[in-house]
Amino acid sequence: MNTTTPLVIVTGACGGIGAAVTQHLLTEGYAVLACDTQEQILSNTQHPTEKCEYYPLDVTDETCVQHLGDYLRQRRQPVQGLINCAGIVHAAPLLETTLEQWRTVHAVNADGVFLVTREVAQYMIEQQPQDPTNSRGIVTISSNAANVPRAEFGAYGASKAAATRVTTSFGLQLAPHGIRANVLCPGTTRTPMVTDSWNGEDRSQTPIKGSLENYRLGIPLGRIAEPEDIAEVATFLLSPRAKHVTMQSLTVDGGATF
Ligand SMILES: NC(=O)c1ccc[n+]([C@@H]2O[C@H](COP(=O)([O-])OP(=O)(O)OC[C@H]3O[C@@H](n4cnc5c(N)ncnc54)[C@H](O)[C@@H]3O)[C@@H](O)[C@H]2O)c1
Repeated sequence: MNTTTPLVIVTGACGGIGAAVTQHLLTEGYAVLACDTQEQILSNTQHPTEKCEYYPLDVTDETCVQHLGDYLRQRRQPVQGLINCAGIVHAAPLLETTLEQWRTVHAVNADGVFLVTREVAQYMIEQQPQDPTNSRGIVTISSNAANVPRAEFGAYGASKAAATRVTTSFGLQLAPHGIRANVLCPGTTRTPMVTDSWNGEDRSQTPIKGSLENYRLGIPLGRIAEPEDIAEVATFLLSPRAKHVTMQSLTVDGGATF
């Protein structure tokens, strides 16, 4: 990989949104360190290997995350930022959620954001004297479920609320180092996380219409998001184009929550 091109670390890079984010960043001229526990979807796409490298990373494993920091220090490549995209969903009402399920979803969605951001941000601080932009970025892909109670996603929403707050709190500490930290909250997006439960049918009309029993409004724009809709906004928040935006949470859900 070319070591002078600014590098972006993307976790969950092999998932639906992560792959779209990776593609978008490559198109914008960044190099990408594509981190995930599985590499299947990435190998199906045509990323140029000189600009995109797969790095096996379990965001819940502190030692593994520390090795990522060591790896970045060895490379000495300028890091433009981090996109925390790794995530898992757990769909069940809270009364039917076990402690183990609660911990599992928090381990990836909340602990993972904390561990990876702490590690990458530390290296970005070390690099500040060489940064010509003074506007590098960290973006966490949270969820609109972080902002509203969800009858069927209680543990997931709580884990995403933690991801949102830890990111904006990092933003406060990182601002003097020229590092912005923002949150993007997608609504329902057409990725395996959602479509795996559709049994091969297109069930996008369900979130679009909403559900009174689940206290869920529909989607006023009349469509669910495509991964590219999320990638476009994530890339903007990461880039110096958003140089005066930090500690903000931007919801990208077609108006489903407000
Ligand atoms: N799809 C949606 O409707 C939706 C809505 C709101 C928020 N989100 C969030 O967007 C992000 C991306 O989700 P997606 O829809 O692309 O889902 P996805 O299931 O397609 O991708 C998630 C990726 O995260 C990876 N991952 C899971 N655990 C990991 C771990 N411990 N370490 C490293 N990687 C791990 C998976 O291997 C997968 O590649 C998630 O954080 C998700 O919560 C998705």
